[in-house]
Amino acid sequence: MPIQATSKIWHNGALIPWEQATIHVMSHVIHYGSSVFEGIRCYAQPHGSAVFRLPEHMQRLLDSAKIYRMDIPFTLEELCAGVVDVIEANDVAPCYIRPIVLRGYGEIGVSPKGSPIEVYIANFPWGKYIASHGGADVCVSSWNRLAPNTMPALAKAGANYMNSQLIRMEAEINGYQEGIALDVNGLVSEGSGENIFIVRNGVLFTPPLANSALSGITRDSVLTIARHLGFSVIEQAIPRELLYIADEVFFTGTAAEVSPIRSIDRIVIGDGKPGEVTKHIGDEFFGIANGLKPDRFGWLTPVKVNATEPVTV
Ligand SMILES: Cc1ncc(COP(=O)(O)O)c(C=O)c1O
Repeated sequence: MPIQATSKIWHNGALIPWEQATIHVMSHVIHYGSSVFEGIRCYAQPHGSAVFRLPEHMQRLLDSAKIYRMDIPFTLEELCAGVVDVIEANDVAPCYIRPIVLRGYGEIGVSPKGSPIEVYIANFPWGKYIASHGGADVCVSSWNRLAPNTMPALAKAGANYMNSQLIRMEAEINGYQEGIALDVNGLVSEGSGENIFIVRNGVLFTPPLANSALSGITRDSVLTIARHLGFSVIEQAIPRELLYIADEVFFTGTAAEVSPIRSIDRIVIGDGKPGEVTKHIGDEFFGIANGLKPDRFGWLTPVKVNATEPVTV
């Protein structure tokens, strides 16, 4: 999907023109992958627009930076205000928001301490990430997710996405929409950019974070919604073959939202249609995000932008 440029980007506390948000080819991040970032959605509401779980995303950004000893010179509140400012300055909603913290132009060499920390926040229109009404056809990847104590999976770092790219490219080359990666022990971990849930006999299962999965904000939202709706939810290690015999499987993520899976490795999941539990949780998720159901968990941050698209679920 080509990026649709907007007018402004937030850089270190100020709004600058989109085309001036550039970095030097000798920046540390280019050579050593030293960035941490977020992906956030701002949803259309019946009146105006709202960012979904903004503080939680920006806290994860701070956490990712902390793991990599990157000192962000902004507080959680300042970063959240930066997101609201850039959305309102660009007057674009619904939209996707991409905050990124990187080590910039300073010294050459692996040690990052002489390279300055730069913080940018961009936003732009973006549609569905996994487009499919009847559910996605996916595979189990031949690539494993990050091994413990190698690349920290709880940090949403740019470098982790080299692994994600291998998973996604392999899936697409083989005619699938996405790949599910196992961890180094062969247990289900996550998609290249999504967490995964399975439903069996009415119970929801998702891998624990120790299986090299990112601590997804949508994962947490689905866990919260599912418990609120009265479903049993179990975070436990999932063997590969449980995917094939599940009644329902779905991905969650800011980009993917709640995306049903129709088949895995050409084995049809359930009856091959989005399942009732997936639909029930998805309706609640989109209902809250789009302001059609009460924001009962306090997940929405309003922004003063009139959405350019009607509210859809
Ligand atoms: C590897 C990976 N796992 C899971 C997720 C889902 O996380 P979230 O729901 O916070 O977007 C993402 C997307 O950010 C991701 O890139």
